[in-house]
Amino acid sequence: MTLPTPTSTIHAIDDASSNLSTGLVLDAVTLKRGDQPIFNDLSLHLTQSRIGIIGDNGAGKSSLFRLISALEQPQSGRVTVHGLDTARPEQRRQLPRQVGLMFQNPDDQIIFPTVLEELAFSLTALGEERRAARAQALQFLQRRGLASWAERAIGELSQGQRQQVCLMALHITQPTTLLLDEPYSSLDLPSQYRLSAQIKASTQQILLSTHLLEHVRDFERVIWIDRGQLRGDGPGSEICAAYAEDVRTRSLTASEPATDA
Ligand SMILES: Nc1ncnc2c1ncn2[C@@H]1O[C@H](COP(=O)(O)OP(=O)(O)OP(=O)(O)O)[C@@H](O)[C@H]1O
Ligand SMILES: [Mg+2]
Repeated sequence: MTLPTPTSTIHAIDDASSNLSTGLVLDAVTLKRGDQPIFNDLSLHLTQSRIGIIGDNGAGKSSLFRLISALEQPQSGRVTVHGLDTARPEQRRQLPRQVGLMFQNPDDQIIFPTVLEELAFSLTALGEERRAARAQALQFLQRRGLASWAERAIGELSQGQRQQVCLMALHITQPTTLLLDEPYSSLDLPSQYRLSAQIKASTQQILLSTHLLEHVRDFERVIWIDRGQLRGDGPGSEICAAYAEDVRTRSLTASEPATDA
């Protein structure tokens, strides 16, 4: 486990001997939005099959996912995903087979007006012909007992149901790596159990950001981001305990009564 100070420069490539053409590599990445620095010289090599991402609101979890899925480009440094350089358009075009992002807010992800069209789009984006994509999407829904969802208008689904559509849009294409940005936030308890079971059974690499530590405590690797800095990186049990302790200490300090000078 590494617990550098929040102000330290981040260099957490975990194993210099490992093959950098596999997995996800952020190499000395700097990301700014306007004048606001989000990451400064961030390096990570992510090869483990289950990786949790934790940290306070605004820490940079979603920004990390946006970099990996090439929705944003860093001002400096390099991001490669299973050997594909996200800055190079001809390699970026191959990314959808390698990585899929489930957005924190389903309304940022969903484009089409019905469930069937949204799922079919995942397949046409990979080059599938439209009619075949619709047929596959319908079969996919039927296998899950959700054929009645096919023509449902997205706008008439609840937040949790829209989150389920986002998950299905990823599952239908089976990218090598899934980035799940707070996937449990709107799911009811049965859907949470189902997602946990799917994650356990999946052979894909899964990165999962969450504020619910129980969902990543048993992951082989958890990364704790603190204001864009890597604060902890190690086994889930250790990093979750360290983060929970830090939160506890901060909340105690914040609630201490002010003393007279
Ligand atoms: N669209 C945007 N434009 C400008 N700044 C942004 C934008 N989105 C996020 N930020 C800023 O980037 C920083 C990191 O935000 P990010 O969304 O990555 O945090 P997060 O860890 O995912 O937080 P949360 O737990 O609330 O989802 C924050 O300071 C935030 O204010
Ligand atoms: Mg976020």
